[in-house]
Amino acid sequence: MEVKTSLLDNMIGVGDMVLLEPLSEDSFIENLRNRFDHNEIYTYIGSVVISMNPYRSLPIFNPDKVEEYRNRNFYELSPHIYALADEAYRSLRDQDKDQCILITGESGAGKTEASKLVMSYVAAVCGKGQEVNKVKEQLLQSNPVLEAFGNAKTVRNDNSSRFGKYMDIEFDFKGDPLGGVISNYLLEKSRVVKQPRGERNFHVFYQLLSGASDDTLKKLKLDRDFSKYNYLSLDSAAVNGLDDAANFRTVKNAMQIVGFMEDEVQSVLELVAAVLKLGNIEFKPESRCNGTDESRIKDKNDLKEMCELLGIEQSVLERAFSYRTVEAKLEKVSTTLNVAQAYYARDALAKNLYSRLFSWLVTRINESIKVTRHKVMGVLDIYGFEIFEENSFEQFIINYCNEKLQQIFIELTLREEQEEYIREGIEWTNIEYFNNAIICDLIENHQSGILAMLDEECLRPGTVTDETFLDKLNTICAEHQHFESRLSKNSKYITDHSLPHTCFRIQHYAGKVLYRAEGFVDKNNDLLYRDLSQAMYKANHSLIKQLFPEGNPAKVNLKRPPTAGFQFKASVGTLMRNLQTKNPNYIRCIKPNDKKASHIFTDSLVCHQVRYLGLMENVRVRRAGYAFRQAYEPCLERYKMLCKRTWPHWSGPAREGVEVLMADLKVPAEEFSYGRSKIFIRNPRSLFFLEERRRQCLQNLATLIQKIYRGWKCRTHFLLLKKSQIVVSAWYRRYAQQKKYKKIKSATTVVQSYTRGWQARKLLRELKYQKRCKEAVTTIAAFWHGTQVRREYRKFFRANAGKKIYDFTIQRIMQKYFLGLKSTLPSMSPIDKSWPARPYLFLDGVHTELRTVFHHWRVSQLCLCPSPIFNSSVKYYLTVSQPFRGDYLEISKNPKYQKLNSAMEEKVLLADVVNKINRANGKGTARIFLLTKNSVVLADQKTGQVKASVPLPDLTSVSVSTQSDGFFGSASAIKGDFLLSSEHLIEIITKLHRTGATAADSEQLNIDISDEFLVQFKHDKVCVKFIQGAPKNGNSVSCKRKNNRLLEVSVPTTA
Ligand SMILES: Nc1ncnc2c1ncn2[C@@H]1O[C@H](COP(=O)(O)OP(=O)(O)OP(=O)(O)O)[C@@H](O)[C@H]1O
Ligand SMILES: [Mg+2]
Repeated sequence: MEVKTSLLDNMIGVGDMVLLEPLSEDSFIENLRNRFDHNEIYTYIGSVVISMNPYRSLPIFNPDKVEEYRNRNFYELSPHIYALADEAYRSLRDQDKDQCILITGESGAGKTEASKLVMSYVAAVCGKGQEVNKVKEQLLQSNPVLEAFGNAKTVRNDNSSRFGKYMDIEFDFKGDPLGGVISNYLLEKSRVVKQPRGERNFHVFYQLLSGASDDTLKKLKLDRDFSKYNYLSLDSAAVNGLDDAANFRTVKNAMQIVGFMEDEVQSVLELVAAVLKLGNIEFKPESRCNGTDESRIKDKNDLKEMCELLGIEQSVLERAFSYRTVEAKLEKVSTTLNVAQAYYARDALAKNLYSRLFSWLVTRINESIKVTRHKVMGVLDIYGFEIFEENSFEQFIINYCNEKLQQIFIELTLREEQEEYIREGIEWTNIEYFNNAIICDLIENHQSGILAMLDEECLRPGTVTDETFLDKLNTICAEHQHFESRLSKNSKYITDHSLPHTCFRIQHYAGKVLYRAEGFVDKNNDLLYRDLSQAMYKANHSLIKQLFPEGNPAKVNLKRPPTAGFQFKASVGTLMRNLQTKNPNYIRCIKPNDKKASHIFTDSLVCHQVRYLGLMENVRVRRAGYAFRQAYEPCLERYKMLCKRTWPHWSGPAREGVEVLMADLKVPAEEFSYGRSKIFIRNPRSLFFLEERRRQCLQNLATLIQKIYRGWKCRTHFLLLKKSQIVVSAWYRRYAQQKKYKKIKSATTVVQSYTRGWQARKLLRELKYQKRCKEAVTTIAAFWHGTQVRREYRKFFRANAGKKIYDFTIQRIMQKYFLGLKSTLPSMSPIDKSWPARPYLFLDGVHTELRTVFHHWRVSQLCLCPSPIFNSSVKYYLTVSQPFRGDYLEISKNPKYQKLNSAMEEKVLLADVVNKINRANGKGTARIFLLTKNSVVLADQKTGQVKASVPLPDLTSVSVSTQSDGFFGSASAIKGDFLLSSEHLIEIITKLHRTGATAADSEQLNIDISDEFLVQFKHDKVCVKFIQGAPKNGNSVSCKRKNNRLLEVSVPTTA
């Protein structure tokens, strides 16, 4: 199990002052000292954080610490500012409550540092992402910019905030920062022109001169030497541990990140330079003839440079420093300024220029980070309570602001808390505390308040001086118990020599402060001569023009602007109202010593701060009261899961539900009280106990939800699988049964067929047996009858009569057979294979023989008969594939051969184109071959002229080869000697043979079939030899002359 830490673990002194025992001022201070000595700078009073300034960097502000405090309970770890920041951030994010962090304490106590720590913690724990990081950077980087322009070294603090700052950080619903708004409160502008001893002007002046490049300084017409500028205090120009040059670079970089344009940065620096230049303008008196004193500018160089920087016409500004124009209704009166007035005008301009520039910077930053309102966390870092040797209007205003903050602290923690106990009916003994409302009233009362009287004096016609203002105070506030003045009617102070006549003293909640009345009226009036604002408006510089809108002659306003005091009071009022709407978180900063030194703890100084901050009262109220309270409904809603009776729903009133819950949890009765609408929990530990139980319970609930969800998911999955499995098995079973059925069916069919076969065979055997029996009976009967008949007729026949009867019977049967065959002969087609069945078995041989004879006859009828022309070895017989057409040239119809046709005396039986082979080279010449009843004619193919005519009787023999060459030749006739080749050789030979045979008185044509024969050419006989050769030039037959007596015909081998 995880070991839980607590605030109480390893505690140095006590981490929470509520636990201090015994409670006294001494023990309180001792506890702070003890913890401070052990580097424990944070201590709680309930939820308020006391922060001691360590004046050195401690290793407790790093990312590891951020992680340590992230999402932890407030009282879980030792006190830390991160715990407060985390608490505020989480209740903003998770409970949607707007928060404000109020950081109070005197100057140098560490408020600004604390505000930066809170901001950096929130930036570290909130969401991440490109856009969010950019916003975070912009918010964080606004700090160095504002510090450079608004902070300065004072005797109390090297980085003292000389303005009040309230920053609203806006978050979205997830808790990611979206942007923010900064409000600034009254900058201590008098510092621009004059600084008390040991103090500096605002940081930016020193940063600019130390950090800017030579080039930039040249452009700004500045010199790096501080001593050249009247407005810069020289005795403390360098501050220990402050690197102005490095800070300048940081500020420039920060301005860029925040979103300042290059030219805007340049304009800002020009204005800063202009203020420095302005301080160097000096005046000398000059008497006029009318006796009045006038002022003249001593050295115009600085004025010239300043005018060049700001784009102002030198003469215009020069005049504005010499004259003052007062406009009243329709009148305009110009008066000259004396030297003192000129200096006043110069300083007023410098202060205005700088303070307006500062306000513009805040507005410009707001433009960059502005968003619409969502959840808000406000961080207030305002100037701390100040008591200087000489306190003026600024300190008065600053201290008034601190009074107001103390007031809100009292309101929200002390009074509000006690009133709540009474309201809720909780038993309560009232605790006395000092309520500073009376001091606030002394300052801000509408009629008799110091601010109201100052305003009255400023607006009053007639001579108004700081003395008249003091007189007024002395009269009106004399009786006020917190107001002290030598000249007041209150005789108590008449002999008080620590109270000069020109001063008044106020007993602030944090101590008595002596204010010098000098300058109050002027500073409250905050007058800038109209001539100067008009001169500024005329500047050819965009930023200056914006800063002095009242200088626009078109908008001359004769009404006095509101006084500085009035403006401040109004803005502080708005701030207080704003803070009251938010959930406050307090950081009370304490300064351990006045020397800005680490490790020094000055008891008296700390004691003073503890007193005026009202911390003791705070502890007392806290100890007497309850650490935590919550309305019944949200309380029940938050913890109802801790009890079975209230979980998940409680139907009765919320209070009863909470009572049941507390009883069930066995929280000791003294640990809590039931108010009218809220439960009050006395000890933070009890709350922590509830929170811890809740956290565990949430974990259990989460596990339960997980379990149910997982169960549901698995079950759904299982059901789906089951359903699928049923479908799959159904299909499979169907398939298996089908297969089985088919197997059985085929087996059945086999068995059936066997059975049927067996039955059929059995039946067949029986039938055959019966048949045989019948035949046997018939045979026996026939033999028996034959025997009977022979026995009967033997006596009537001669001995050889049997042979005659037999012959006769055979003759008769043969006759019947032939006649029958004649009528059933098949067709004449040689391819018809049909033949009637034989009627008797003994005719088997004859019948087959007759079939062959018939076929030969049929073939001979078609002139295809191999016999007698061709014996069976001749391959022509097999090759006849074309029907005999006879007239291939259509000689009777073709007009080309009309003449040749008419020259023929008989009918042309065959006309074809043949090749006549030339003896000399074996090549062929095309010839028309005509066969008539009496002769063979060879004619020229082109002309049709008869070349040779051989009477058929002269043609006694024709030779052909055994190959498929188409050659035929003759050596029998004197005129008929030739060697020809034709594609229709079989037809030619057949027709020659038949025609020759039928020709009157001629012998039969002799057909010689041989692969070597003689052919008569004129007077010589030439041997034609046929050889089988490899196919050349395709499949054609080639004839070659070998010698005078030999022609060789090469016939390609046929497959
Ligand atoms: N937590 C801290 N760790 C280290 N140094 C600190 C811390 N807080 C304050 N300091 C030191 O104290 C100095 C003064 O602190 P800071 O400027 O925050 O005071 P302040 O209360 O804002 O004063 P002022 O009212 O004058 O503005 C800082 O410059 C720093 O040196
Ligand atoms: Mg500060």
